[in-house]
Amino acid sequence: MAIPQLFTPLALRGLTLKNRIVVAPMCQYAAEGGFVTDWHYQHHCRFAIGGAGLAFVEATAVTPAGRITRGCSGLWEDGQIAGLARIATMYKSHGCAAGIQIGHAGRRASCALPWDGGAPLGGGPDDGAWPTVGPSPLAERDNGPVPHELSPTEIAAHVTAFADAARRALEAGFDTIEIHGAHGYLLHSFISPIANRRSDDFGGSLANRMRFALLVSHAVRALWPADQPVFYRCSAVDTIDGGLTLDDTIALARALKQIGIDVIDCSSGGINGPATLAQHKVGFGYQVPYAEAIRNQARIKTMAVGLITEPALAEQILAQGQADLIALARELLADPNWPYRAALQLGLDNPHGVLPRNYALTLARRAAILADS
Ligand SMILES: Cc1cc2nc3c(=O)[nH]c(=O)nc-3n(C[C@H](O)[C@H](O)[C@H](O)COP(=O)(O)O)c2cc1C
Repeated sequence: MAIPQLFTPLALRGLTLKNRIVVAPMCQYAAEGGFVTDWHYQHHCRFAIGGAGLAFVEATAVTPAGRITRGCSGLWEDGQIAGLARIATMYKSHGCAAGIQIGHAGRRASCALPWDGGAPLGGGPDDGAWPTVGPSPLAERDNGPVPHELSPTEIAAHVTAFADAARRALEAGFDTIEIHGAHGYLLHSFISPIANRRSDDFGGSLANRMRFALLVSHAVRALWPADQPVFYRCSAVDTIDGGLTLDDTIALARALKQIGIDVIDCSSGGINGPATLAQHKVGFGYQVPYAEAIRNQARIKTMAVGLITEPALAEQILAQGQADLIALARELLADPNWPYRAALQLGLDNPHGVLPRNYALTLARRAAILADS
């Protein structure tokens, strides 16, 4: 029987993924001082055991000010490597490639924890707010904090911070790294004309607005081993008038390909307002058309994400050549064994083998008993 596409391996440079199922980065807001905790380890064990081919650790800040909340993880100092190394080693012991997303929240930093409302901290003496940064002194929302406009020298320092964090991620043992260029955070805020009103080399034309993201991508690619892939997550469209268009993002993807970025992870939205998804009409697979257009027009591998919950849809996206990888976030929280569910539903030969042998053997025996009964 033909192997479902979802369970075919994918070679990315020297890294071969055992299947096309990817755990999307998901902030857990459980870090302490930027250090990951046991919660992160437990959270990631669920996906490793569940059979995904690649998993990304959440948006990990390259500077303390780059955290969305005080509960976000960081890689701005060497001491933060060990906790992440434990997660990377655990993933690899299950044959799941280990990835980490690095980013800077820019003007969307300094927010309350989601279960405390998630709004920008007020800047009062005791609420722990910190100054935010961005391309221009424009608040992300009414009455939100006005970010400090980064100078060219400060932009260069942030490029270095991304590179330093990437070096630490490599030291932690991650197979791959994703640059967070989406959701209104620092790199996206420079690319989007909604947030960037600069008139220097980092503003105005699309080429200028992309410059910061391309410098970061170049710096990360330069230090990441040639036989290991680098991902870039984009917000393909801003979904508001005057914002980033799909054609802009296709141009960005072409430039990223030139630099040696291997996969574009195709998300969207987030430039204004609290929610990434709020400005979209969302439905199953709503961002797949972006992954398809970028794949076909920039001729680069893409990862589709966003309300892909059913194995049949994931399989169809791959079979129709709309994307090379399928990332899931919330559905994996609901069911970390989703790869097993997909294997059963798509008719994979020995679906139980998606799980570790400690589970697989006994589940295969149970299936045989049930088949005979
Ligand atoms: C709890 C949670 C945390 C998230 N954290 C991140 C993150 O760290 N970086 C990121 O790029 N996207 C983040 N996202 C967005 C997801 O990666 C994903 O793109 C989005 O949830 C849509 O996929 P889904 O419908 O499968 O959940 C997060 C989403 C959730 C639900």
